[in-house]
Amino acid sequence: MSVTILGIESSCDDTSAAVLRDTVLLSNVIASQRVHEAYGGVVPELASRAHQQNIVPVVSEALRQAGIGRKDIDAIAFTRGPGLPGSLHVGTSFAKGLALALDIPLVDVNHLHGHVLSHFVKETPDAEVPDFPYLCLLISGGNSQIIKVNSPTDMQVLGQTIDDAAGEAFDKCAKVMGLPYPGGPHIDRLAAVGDDKAFKFAKPHVEGYNYSFSGLKTSFLYTLRDALKLNPDFIEQNKADLAASLQRTIIEILMDKFGKAIKDTGIKTIAIGGGVSANSGMRAAVEDYARRHHLKAFIPKRVFTTDNAAMIAIAGHYKFLNNDFCDITAPPFQRVII
Ligand code: KG4
Repeated sequence: MSVTILGIESSCDDTSAAVLRDTVLLSNVIASQRVHEAYGGVVPELASRAHQQNIVPVVSEALRQAGIGRKDIDAIAFTRGPGLPGSLHVGTSFAKGLALALDIPLVDVNHLHGHVLSHFVKETPDAEVPDFPYLCLLISGGNSQIIKVNSPTDMQVLGQTIDDAAGEAFDKCAKVMGLPYPGGPHIDRLAAVGDDKAFKFAKPHVEGYNYSFSGLKTSFLYTLRDALKLNPDFIEQNKADLAASLQRTIIEILMDKFGKAIKDTGIKTIAIGGGVSANSGMRAAVEDYARRHHLKAFIPKRVFTTDNAAMIAIAGHYKFLNNDFCDITAPPFQRVII
């Protein structure tokens, strides 16, 4: 039996809808909200309003691009959390309403599972997907986790950040440099032309496979504060070198624990996911590590690194196959659970 899933994602500031048929992608429409740029961060109230404006056109466009009608959908998968409450309410309520109207099952998806399973979205029917178990490094604006993926519905967190996420480290340091939000892509762009050994920043000492980025953020801030006292143009004159050194340090911190988990578990397939997996240096570091250690690495296409409904649809696909449906009264959840 063929399975067609409509995925809906509205956890933060991207409204997205996607259609998957038997794990093959038929459409993936993303409406990004530019309104937050002027505020230096996502404004929750503006995000939920924009979702309200976007959700119907985005879903209609996803169905149109997939070449299907509403009656062709077997189930609706939606992001139940974690995320901004107001944003989640829009996608959750829309998904419930449409599922009731079409009298089809509703599947709730943990946004983080979506990122981890994004490698199973096939753009062509013969696309290669990871073997189980694989180790996924999930790096986004809200999370930094090393996850052992035993099956699409069985995941084990081996380590995670005890304070800031990797994306926050990029964004907060970029803000100190006066770069726009989100700063990660700006650091990436500047780092490409900088000397990554020009500056040295503090690295954390944390137990096990856990991460910490708050010390690095403070070290970066103090370096700039002290240098600016002597030279008010310090940031402007050293932008690229600061970005490159910061990026190298974040990647070294991430790869140090990821490498330890890979060695200790002996797992031969690795993957990265989440917004920070778009980072050029990070992608190169994972590819290089996999080559040197004879591992198979899955690095998502950039469109699947940011929030998108294709990853929600794929996670929903596997829950649908397990008859794991969502109660119509289920509220969104805000906190991180995996
Ligand atoms: O997964 P995501 O879209 O949002 C959630 O946290 O759910 O990740 C956003 C994060 C931001 O911190 C952003 O700065 C970071 O991903 N990011 C990058 C790059 N592109 C996005 N960080 C470093 N380099 C990039 N190229």
